Amino acid sequence: DWQMGSYIDEAVAKIREQVGDEEVILGLSGGVDSSVAAALIHRAIGDQLTCVFVDHGLLRLNEGDMVMDMFAGKLHAKVIRVDASELFLGELAGVTDPEQKRKIIGRLFVDVFKAEAAKLKAGDGGHKGATFLAQGTIYPDVVESGGTKTKKATTIKSHHNVGGLPEQLGLKLLEPLRELFKDEVRALGVALGLPAEMVYRHPFPGPGLGVRILGEVKQQYADLLRRADAIFIEELRNTIDPATGKSWYDLTSQAFAVFLPVKSVGVMGDGRTYDYVVALRAVQTSDFMTADWAELPYAMLKRTSGRIINEVRGINRVTYDVSSKPPATIEWE
Ligand code: XMP
Repeated sequence: DWQMGSYIDEAVAKIREQVGDEEVILGLSGGVDSSVAAALIHRAIGDQLTCVFVDHGLLRLNEGDMVMDMFAGKLHAKVIRVDASELFLGELAGVTDPEQKRKIIGRLFVDVFKAEAAKLKAGDGGHKGATFLAQGTIYPDVVESGGTKTKKATTIKSHHNVGGLPEQLGLKLLEPLRELFKDEVRALGVALGLPAEMVYRHPFPGPGLGVRILGEVKQQYADLLRRADAIFIEELRNTIDPATGKSWYDLTSQAFAVFLPVKSVGVMGDGRTYDYVVALRAVQTSDFMTADWAELPYAMLKRTSGRIINEVRGINRVTYDVSSKPPATIEWE
């Protein structure tokens, strides 16, 4: 709309003035904040921006390709995709403790990103290096951390914390979303041409499927989980609540599948199966500090479990999580 149009013009002018003819690096995660920051900065300075997308192998089905399609394909932004899945899975082998898994994933993520950023900072023949690091910090992040640039870490679960990166890399900080609330960031994203589906996505934790596979993370588990999760999300998007006209995806705040590395007995045709279990989790919340499990329609749950068990060989049982937060947390780890 008109107001958002003039907001974009101002924001673009401000970024151009701050950056001049220098170059900017941005860590793209596929989440709302970094995506909107990337789209805005790209609008302002085009190829002076390079996005670095670290794929840790713990993303949802086709997520990496979707991020590349959007930013490299449609927006024509410069994006470096780093496929680090082998590194992450290697370091996670044998590790079962949730906090230890988070720490490993967080540390590797920073290491891989820093190595890419260092290359971009160094530049190459006749091409000077980057001098800015852009981050999708939004206003609530600034407030939560008392005006410093780091994100808050809870004591219950350590979250990704990339605070201090610009200093360590010797880069100046560019934070064009610092004054915006989440709903303003979403509106800005839509005005910049990002698909509503991307801008209104449920939050996804930094450690990704690493905290949705209970205990040890294995490639096979991640592959099974991705397929079950994609079916659940598809059913949520396709099931419209007649009372509100909204999809169950939009009526829930977060929804996903969790992989349980336990086997149970089932029957298929005239054979017996002995396969893994998936739990479905869907919650409604306004602040993610407390949350209620969502009263999804039974017909939808039935369709979803039927599809998962029929389409994902290796899973023969689906359960629905009816625990609220507190005392349960939203994620299982
Ligand atoms: P819990 O499970 O603590 O989750 O009820 C509350 C919200 O935080 C997200 N979450 C994380 N986000 N890194 C993140 O970036 C993490 O390690 C992490 N753990 C939980 C969770 O998805 C929910 O939205």
